Amino acid sequence: MRTVVCPGSFDPFTYGHLDVVRRARSLSDRVIVAVAHNAAKKTLFSVQRRVEMARATIENAQLSNVEVREAPGLLTEFCAEVGAEHIIKGLRNGADLDGELPMALMNRAISGVETLFVLGEPQLSHIASSLVKDVARHGGDIHGMVDPMVVEEIQRALAAQEEK
Ligand code: PNS
Repeated sequence: MRTVVCPGSFDPFTYGHLDVVRRARSLSDRVIVAVAHNAAKKTLFSVQRRVEMARATIENAQLSNVEVREAPGLLTEFCAEVGAEHIIKGLRNGADLDGELPMALMNRAISGVETLFVLGEPQLSHIASSLVKDVARHGGDIHGMVDPMVVEEIQRALAAQEEK
């Protein structure tokens, strides 16, 4: 059984991420979405909420053979624990590759695990978690970019932030 890991911060999980998971499914038997910690990012959502939102999106899309798990610590250690042969990440553009390349090379250097890149659907390439949150923060419509449950979660989290 070929297991692959799709890692990310997923703050929150978007339809762009879902597209990558669909592509990863077509290349493997089992996909594990790894909700990991990115030391460079301050997240809006706790890791538990990020896991729940990814799970809800994948359930609503009715994708089988996909699990969502929290991945604390080193991603390469998580890959070894779950028996993943490859990491799969999506690319929207050259800037994505610039960001992904050092991580892919580091992961291979420290563990031997190869990262495979898939090209995301061009019609979704404007979707980024950070931009979705920013559009929502300024009152814009984010339906069609994230699952309806995630729309509600973002609105709730931003409203709670404003109250502080
Ligand atoms: O969605 P992101 O923020 O671009 O994903 C980056 C992520 C979370 C996959 C990366 O920061 C990561 O792998 N974090 C886990 C800790 C780790 O293994 N760090 C070394 C990466 S080379």
